[in-house]
Amino acid sequence: MDFKEHLIESIGEKEAELLIASLSRPSEHAVLLNIEKISDEEFLKEFPQVKPHPYVKHAYIYDKSVYELGKHIYHELGFYYLQEPSAMVVSSLIDFQDDDYVLDMCAAPGGKAIQASFKMHGNGLIIANDLSFDRCGLLSNNVERLGLGNIIITNGNMTDTYQKPINAFDKIILDAPCSGSGMFRKHELMESEWSINKVKRFQAIQKDLILIAYKMLKPGGLLSYSTCSYSKEEDEDVISYLLDKTDAVIEEIKDIDAAYINPNCPIGIRLMPSHFQGEGQYICHIRKPGESKKNEYDHVNKFKDIIPFDYDVKKVNDYLFAIKNGKEIKGFNIYRYGIKVGEYKKDRFAYDLHYARSLSPEQFPSVDLSLEETKDYLFGNQINKSSNKKGFILLTYKNKAIDIAKTDGKVIKNYYPKGLRKKF
Ligand SMILES: C[S@@+](CC[C@H](N)C(=O)[O-])C[C@H]1O[C@@H](n2cnc3c(N)ncnc32)[C@H](O)[C@@H]1O
Repeated sequence: MDFKEHLIESIGEKEAELLIASLSRPSEHAVLLNIEKISDEEFLKEFPQVKPHPYVKHAYIYDKSVYELGKHIYHELGFYYLQEPSAMVVSSLIDFQDDDYVLDMCAAPGGKAIQASFKMHGNGLIIANDLSFDRCGLLSNNVERLGLGNIIITNGNMTDTYQKPINAFDKIILDAPCSGSGMFRKHELMESEWSINKVKRFQAIQKDLILIAYKMLKPGGLLSYSTCSYSKEEDEDVISYLLDKTDAVIEEIKDIDAAYINPNCPIGIRLMPSHFQGEGQYICHIRKPGESKKNEYDHVNKFKDIIPFDYDVKKVNDYLFAIKNGKEIKGFNIYRYGIKVGEYKKDRFAYDLHYARSLSPEQFPSVDLSLEETKDYLFGNQINKSSNKKGFILLTYKNKAIDIAKTDGKVIKNYYPKGLRKKF
């Protein structure tokens, strides 16, 4: 069976034809603002030729030939996250609350978990897990750049049930690994690698993952299942399997007028380039019946000389890590326990960029730089700038964190990580 025949089986002939025709149109790009760092007004003033995303708050669709947002200094400073327009709808549909305990099972490079963190205003707690150690690194870089303080990154295989917590999470995001047909417009190679056997291989993993997800969900909790595949086997059929095995209930997704719902199997919604200006995305919401208790979080900080907040702070070898709301994490292999605060060196403590990015000028003595000085600093230069402060300072641009550096009151030494230094 080839991809087209399979598509007709999944969504019917008429929709399959429309979809195939849309695959020759160019892909669209979108940006999600980190509103702790930039407001919609400020963003629109700088980039007036963007269009508001029709379904995602604080998000815009932009033309890459007009704005190279990935190369802009605002990207480096964590003012926004770039994501595909359909992918960013997934977390926008979830009613995250500030005290939620959230699990993102397949999280890297982080788009869904990052939007969850924004929507929770940096509160609650998110476990963002990925099977791939390298992709945990990408996730970690994004979390650090954006200065997020409520995400614990874990590295493991979520089909492995050893010691996994049961009935634990208010919200679970399962953005499952899949055959990726929804991304054919972006990655042509994937189309030549498509096969029905690949779809079936992924379906087996998705079935395992969704059953485990459901076990870990609190009664009353919400599971968001998504894929970027058009195959019914990986989408509606996986949900039907869960419904057969458990007491799970489907929750209707409303207010997305561009959504396509399969008339022969009306479970969940599909975004498709034939109806919406993004790539393919299947999304389904599942509720576990019942009600659950509120979350309790740990706040143990024996390192108030370094980090003077009511965070949960842990020392691992010579490193300090901090999370706004901590918890004992069982059954997960921790990659990064929240914010990396820094490292004890022989006679001093060296602050990490992640800690710097999580701070505001109210929390640390700070010096604001001009645009030229900021560019100079990000390039690796020391900055000649007098101030009445001495010692460690938070450098800011437009009052948003750049890095923690040291000054003698005249010259600011450069502490920007060597691997990140570049010209803007
Ligand atoms: C579709 S991508 C996730 C994209 C991510 N949610 C985002 O928004 O940026 C699927 C991810 O699942 C991970 N993965 C695959 N099998 C897994 C497993 N058994 N347990 C945990 N993660 C897995 C892959 O490494 C990949 O990063």
